[in-house]
Amino acid sequence: MVRAAGLEPVLLSMMDSALVVDGLRKRYGDTMAVDGVSFEVAAGEIFGIIGANGSGKTTTVECVQALRQADAGSVRVFGIDPQTDRASLRSVVGSQLQESELPNRLRVWEALDLFASISPTSADWRELLADWGLAEKKDAAFASLSGGQRQRLLVALALVNSPRLVFLDEMTTGLDPAARRVAWDLIDQIRLGGTTVVLVTHFMDEAERLCDRIAVFRQGRIIAAGSPQGLVDAHAGDATVHFSTDEADLSWLANSQGVERIDRAGSRVTVHGSGPLLAHTAATLVAHGIAPLDLRTERKTLEDAFLALTARQGGTTA
Ligand SMILES: Nc1ncnc2c1ncn2[C@@H]1O[C@H](COP(=O)(O)OP(=O)(O)OP(=O)(O)O)[C@@H](O)[C@H]1O
Ligand SMILES: [Mg+2]
Repeated sequence: MVRAAGLEPVLLSMMDSALVVDGLRKRYGDTMAVDGVSFEVAAGEIFGIIGANGSGKTTTVECVQALRQADAGSVRVFGIDPQTDRASLRSVVGSQLQESELPNRLRVWEALDLFASISPTSADWRELLADWGLAEKKDAAFASLSGGQRQRLLVALALVNSPRLVFLDEMTTGLDPAARRVAWDLIDQIRLGGTTVVLVTHFMDEAERLCDRIAVFRQGRIIAAGSPQGLVDAHAGDATVHFSTDEADLSWLANSQGVERIDRAGSRVTVHGSGPLLAHTAATLVAHGIAPLDLRTERKTLEDAFLALTARQGGTTA
């Protein structure tokens, strides 16, 4: 899918839009929860929304689905205006909300059957039961499920109407590590089936692994957007290369391509710089007769980019 940051506008304009959000605003009393948010999600894309607690992610996805009334802005879901045509919206959208509850005594299969019965385009809920590891809990009441099992049921319910666009708000919160991996594979499969996914998450590894593009929220605004790699390249900071040597004079290394700074603590050396720093540093060292066994680079991640972005803006809380 759309991964190269530079290609995005061209590719996006060639693809159908699943979702177009323009100038969305929502205020709760004195709190400006969403402060002019605009973004577009291409059909077939997995679009991530990340941001600190209280940065307006849930309010945005709820306003987009007309579950909350926005103060301003326009939203189109496959051309549908959610405010004026809720029936059409419901037939194309699936939703796992951050804090959903079901009646305590409702059994797992009853919930799936109920949701399927009110949807004109329902998937086979028995398959969803197996996919999401709930087959053994088929007859269990909602109140008796563990946190992770509830979460899995809520995701399965979001998919029961075979949606063209699904909103997943903290889909894997509460899931054990193995269940998270299963959930990731299932999301991949859902996308392969043509469903567009909007994924709100606090897990940077999840966003990096699943999303084609990501919007970073802070205090109700999008402060950065792009592919995971694009965000890492633009915001995660310098590359670093580490190695050990007893060589006293490394002044020649400063002239190696991409090197900006060299820190030294005894035999341990850290090279800061940009570009393919590991390759250039290795070549320069070898050319000077040094071949350190522990030469390694630190891969920058989306978490580095997220922390740098939110720190630069003055903290991580809204
Ligand atoms: N029903 C409400 N009434 C008043 N204020 C609200 C309400 N819902 C949310 N807010 C406020 O709006 C802001 C945005 O909240 P929102 O739930 O959209 O954040 P979020 O990014 O989803 O956070 P989290 O990561 O914790 O889920 C917060 O300051 C929150 O306190
Ligand atoms: Mg939220």
